Amino acid sequence: MLDSQLEIQRKPAIVILDFGSQYSELIARRIREIEVYSVVLGYNTSVDELRELAPSGIILSGGPSSVYDKGAPLSDPAIWNLNIPVLGVCYGMQVMVQQLGGLVGAAVGKAEYGKAPLHVDDPTELLTNVENGSTMWMSHGDSVQQLPDGFVRLAHTSNTPDAAIAFHDRNFYGVQFHPEVVHSTHGMRMLRNFVYNICHCQPEWTTDAFIDEAIQKVQDQVGKKRVLLALSGGVDSSALAFLLKKAIGDQLTCMFIDQGFMRKGEPEFLMDFFDKKFHINVQYINARERFVSKLKGIIDPEVKRKIIGTEFIRVFEEESLRLGPFDYLAQGTLYPDVIESSGTNIDPKTGERIAVKIKSHHNVGGLPKDLQFKLVEPLRTLFKDEVRKVGRSLGLPEEIVRRHPFPGPGLAIRILGEVTDEKLNCLRDADFIVREEITNAGLYHDIWQAFAVLLPVRSVGVMGDQRTYAWPIVLRCVSSEDGMTADWSRLPNILLEKISNRIVNEVKGVNRVVLDITSKPPGTIEWE
Ligand code: XMP
Repeated sequence: MLDSQLEIQRKPAIVILDFGSQYSELIARRIREIEVYSVVLGYNTSVDELRELAPSGIILSGGPSSVYDKGAPLSDPAIWNLNIPVLGVCYGMQVMVQQLGGLVGAAVGKAEYGKAPLHVDDPTELLTNVENGSTMWMSHGDSVQQLPDGFVRLAHTSNTPDAAIAFHDRNFYGVQFHPEVVHSTHGMRMLRNFVYNICHCQPEWTTDAFIDEAIQKVQDQVGKKRVLLALSGGVDSSALAFLLKKAIGDQLTCMFIDQGFMRKGEPEFLMDFFDKKFHINVQYINARERFVSKLKGIIDPEVKRKIIGTEFIRVFEEESLRLGPFDYLAQGTLYPDVIESSGTNIDPKTGERIAVKIKSHHNVGGLPKDLQFKLVEPLRTLFKDEVRKVGRSLGLPEEIVRRHPFPGPGLAIRILGEVTDEKLNCLRDADFIVREEITNAGLYHDIWQAFAVLLPVRSVGVMGDQRTYAWPIVLRCVSSEDGMTADWSRLPNILLEKISNRIVNEVKGVNRVVLDITSKPPGTIEWE
């Protein structure tokens, strides 16, 4: 399980025991959304640990196993005597049933995957205000065959007789569906019922509470030592810079490496905003020439990304030695990175995490062995939308908080083929027009990403009486939830016309604008 076990400072009101479901963290996040602090711990967390944490409620997550399989993960059976309310979700409910003397078996011919209407048999307690017939998301191949003594049915679906169950006197509840996913229309209502009415939690987990605690934690960790932060201008590193400034003031040094691939006005905005306006010490490193010369003659997109990543690490290393020494490296690691990361070690002396891999957005290369920092990662329990809230609360402007995603290698991967200063200038101007017009049309926040791509081919055009032979710009605008899939945005023709006219008229070197109408998959959002 993740090392949140090591990190718990504040006692969680709700503990989620993880049996290996992809949704365990989502449950924690949903509970935090309703302002109750919750953490995910391993399914085998001992009852002594739980007693120590004294949560107001425990949730057993789903999981891929079958409870009747040999070696299937089960909870410490003593949790049933803790006198703490328990909610079992999917596999978690089957664990509950099995451990308390009921029977779970394969739902032969009755497995359920996807949406199912829930028929509520008992609209009280857990299912208070959960509408009869509301949709719940099912994903199970096993089901309860026999309830343990003391349990009653709360709801059923056409395929699952015991879709929600309860042992009222002992405050044990189980649901076969996943209340945490968005497809479960009344799932949040059900979680609220459990958290507030059954566990009697109070809404205490607010953004401000998070910030206060994170500040305290950073102060305790860092003491009087110096901290370095690589600032990119994205919401994660920006929110982190604000948080650290509040926590440790001038012990923080930010480094902004300008690779020359930022959008028009961005480096200036960044320096002006952080350094001048908010007096956060930002060291501007102008590495433009260095990066562009490394890309001379490079056409292959993967080679390009690798070169940029490696060069970034090199510059970072040189500059941190020049500006240092620093004891700590601050990173805007978020929860999804924590799940994926394996490139970290724990210092056996201090118990602190040490970076063995710089987790910049480049995700390439590693820090040299003699340049190891201890890590400060106060955002690592948060999801992106939680970081946005924290950023806002710390005073970050909407401009940064709701900025479209921008890839680490920046405009370099939006110029197909070789990157040159001339093409960079051209793309920067075109990109600026795209963003300006989309913003003026009031559509910026409805779109996931809107940008320009430069193609290294020339076509014939005519301007005035002159024949032109110049590059085309591709307009790429997509809607998406998470960047994993995307659809192309249907922009109004009048806006398309304006963008096209302005780019061809105002951007030197361009005589044509084309529109990318490919979804992802099969296309990707970026062109390289
Ligand atoms: P693709 O092009 O794979 O992009 O559909 C999905 C999302 O990821 C962003 N992206 C990156 N972000 N470093 C990043 O930080 C990168 O190297 C990178 N490549 C793509 C892209 O902008 C989109 O939002």
